[in-house]
Amino acid sequence: MKKLLLDCDPGIDDALALALAAGSPEIDLVGITTVGGNVNLDLTTANALALREFYRIDDVPVTPGSAQALLGAGVRAESVHGATGLGGVILPVPVNGVTDGHAVDFIIETLRSAPGEITLVAVGPLTNIALAVRREPRIVEWVRDFVIMGGSYTRGNHTPAAEFNIKADPEAAAIVFGAGWNVTMVGLDVTLTAVVTESILDQMRSLGRLADLVVPISQFYGVVEADGGPAIHDAVAVAHVIDPSLLKVLPAVVNVETVGTYTSGMTVTDFQLDGKVPNASVAVELDVDRFWKLVMEAYGRLAATIA
Ligand code: BDR
Ligand code: CA
Repeated sequence: MKKLLLDCDPGIDDALALALAAGSPEIDLVGITTVGGNVNLDLTTANALALREFYRIDDVPVTPGSAQALLGAGVRAESVHGATGLGGVILPVPVNGVTDGHAVDFIIETLRSAPGEITLVAVGPLTNIALAVRREPRIVEWVRDFVIMGGSYTRGNHTPAAEFNIKADPEAAAIVFGAGWNVTMVGLDVTLTAVVTESILDQMRSLGRLADLVVPISQFYGVVEADGGPAIHDAVAVAHVIDPSLLKVLPAVVNVETVGTYTSGMTVTDFQLDGKVPNASVAVELDVDRFWKLVMEAYGRLAATIA
């Protein structure tokens, strides 16, 4: 089993990524931390709490973190995820609340407690991670692997140059990429191929109670691409932890643009190392069929648990 700490901003695809983790016997989810991103921190935290109970992973602590980007005003994505962050779905009001303390401390203490054992996965703006690494630089040694959904070497989505999670806090992303660890960057280049097609949606319809969530949020999700469905970006980062063979990754030097008028939030990716030391493993190809097989098997297990 791999221990996983998920920093997220649920968020529709965050919810779908969490369902993947919850339904995967390969994953031991040791914590969920929240950050303001797709919607504000109060909502991302409320959604994480509601999802924890809906998925019956009640023993996983949820700890809220940063409400604002380090410097800029930040950006939100209500137009994509809905006013509450979960499309039109209203989950039962959760019984249990958050764990005391701040996500930044939770991340540091959790990694400190098990050096070399925990994979940190960040699928929202990188504010919590940047603050954690600034406050305790040794987390780069303690973490087993560090994986983000964010960035791209080919295109943006929030702007032509910038992917949402990086654009939402470019200074945090710059700190994180420069922290001295290897960042596995699962960016738009691959996540845009993880599309909920009609046939996937049909499979989701047979998931019983879980279908009441995953079908409408997938339908609501506004990231419609050429081949007809929304891409569930964040789930690809979690899938990579479960089965690293799903993604082809290449070493690269990634720098984050923070000042460009048109390019702020761009992840400038240099695959031509020529002796330079890479700071990232960049995903360049996803085995889409095997990805969906993995996801639907996990959803099937989760559906049986929460039936
Ligand atoms: C990323 O932005 C958010 O809207 C999604 O949750 C995902 O993490 C995709 O660019
Ligand atoms: Ca997200």
